[in-house]
Amino acid sequence: MKKFSVVIAGGGSTFTPGIILMLLENLKRFPLRAIKFYDNDAERQEIIAKACEIILTEKAPEIDFCYTTDPKTAFTDVDFVMAHIRVGKYPMREKDEKIPLRHGVLGQETCGPGGIAYGMRSIGGVLELVEYMEKYSPNAWMLNYSNPAAIVAEATRRLKPNAKILNICDMPIGIESRMAQIAGLKSRKEMRVRYYGLNHFGWWTQVEDLQGNDLLPVIRKHVAEHGYIPKVAGEPVEASWNDTFGKAKDVWALDPTTMPNTYLKYYLFPDYVVAHSDPHHTRANEVMEHREKNVFSACRTITSAGKSSAGHLEIDEHASYIVDLATAIAFNTQERMLLIVPNNGSIINFDPEAMVEIPCIVGSHGPEPLVMGKIPLFQKGMMSQQVAVEKLVVEAWIEKSYLKLWQAITMSKTVPSATVAKAILDDLIEANKDYWPALK
Ligand code: NAD
Ligand code: G6P
Ligand code: MN
Repeated sequence: MKKFSVVIAGGGSTFTPGIILMLLENLKRFPLRAIKFYDNDAERQEIIAKACEIILTEKAPEIDFCYTTDPKTAFTDVDFVMAHIRVGKYPMREKDEKIPLRHGVLGQETCGPGGIAYGMRSIGGVLELVEYMEKYSPNAWMLNYSNPAAIVAEATRRLKPNAKILNICDMPIGIESRMAQIAGLKSRKEMRVRYYGLNHFGWWTQVEDLQGNDLLPVIRKHVAEHGYIPKVAGEPVEASWNDTFGKAKDVWALDPTTMPNTYLKYYLFPDYVVAHSDPHHTRANEVMEHREKNVFSACRTITSAGKSSAGHLEIDEHASYIVDLATAIAFNTQERMLLIVPNNGSIINFDPEAMVEIPCIVGSHGPEPLVMGKIPLFQKGMMSQQVAVEKLVVEAWIEKSYLKLWQAITMSKTVPSATVAKAILDDLIEANKDYWPALK
């Protein structure tokens, strides 16, 4: 069986150790000969890399491992680039969330003005990774989950239309796992779904078991009362996430025939989100205080003890969809997966040039999107507005246009007026001057 070489771009990510444990768990179906880490922050990456090196030496000494900030070393002789960079890291996420809140608008990692600001930082970073891949390993595939995936995907569609890059998201997987639990199934793999939308902006229209039995009635009944919070608690989740899963109950009520992605809460209930936000302590603070702190301290402990048992790192089970995607390409498995791809007629009455999230059959030539048909006016209207926001951001980045970015922020359903949009934009420009192109 062929063995693969993978580079993880964003080696210093809080998710890297969990992904390494997940890759180790899946070596039988996705065998590896080499793992490399690449990051542009050597110090941050080294803390994660030294601990992962110990784990790999203990569990799979046959896999070559190295970590580097040199693109040539990182991207030469790789089959897959697994990319999860965060341009500006958590201190900039904190600003993305807090600046809009100062103006009474929600502050979120990927939605509204915060997501737009993050998009303006990410586009250049992800394009650079694509260029390194094309230069040093032109046959490789990039599996990208760097956010905001919707804007990044639109940027690569516009600027790198032939690149072998697939943009993916774990939110539908997390929600489907909850649906499976609600329906009494062991795994989301026992379900087959139809889904359409944009990234962090979509709806399920069909959820069946593998025999074709409709699971929606039982899921719908549960979500109408409890949102996506199953009766028996699964793995522990933080209060802010629990609130999001619960709020899906109200999001669902807007269209009881479909099941919503939890991220729609930010567009349909922005006033609720603002009222439940602390402008001085946002999700970025929670993550820095919990996930980032825990992962980095576990890595430091493992490194100083010289053994993996010294620190507690959790396997990222959810991320096994990344292995599903890699094996689908590597072994032509023809697995059905949700991916962010050009619409190209799949949603019949929607912009063919929009990047949409829909089920695709994935094989060695990449994804073949399935036809999701015609969508109703409510979803079409919301998606048209949001896709225009995403396209305007990418055009603003390409043309360095202040006007287009002002239009984008104004058009976001999370923002009440052009006046507020301009005030937020001016603050964001100041905060992002080391990352954004200078706007004219
Ligand atoms: P993190 O800040 O811990 O890690 C990101 C790493 O990227 C950092 O080590 C940073 O130094 C590095 N980096 C930043 N810019 C870079 C560049 N230009 N080149 C190389 N490296 C660079 O962040 P995290 O919370 O672990 O998240 C990582 C990314 O994964 C984020 O974009 C996050 O939104 C994304 N994510 C996406 C999904 C999804 O559903 N698509 C799910 C989880 C996380
Ligand atoms: C989900 C989404 C990701 C997002 C993450 C944020 O997994 O699919 O796109 O980055 O949530 O989680 P966090 O714990 O960093 O707030
Ligand atoms: Mn996501």
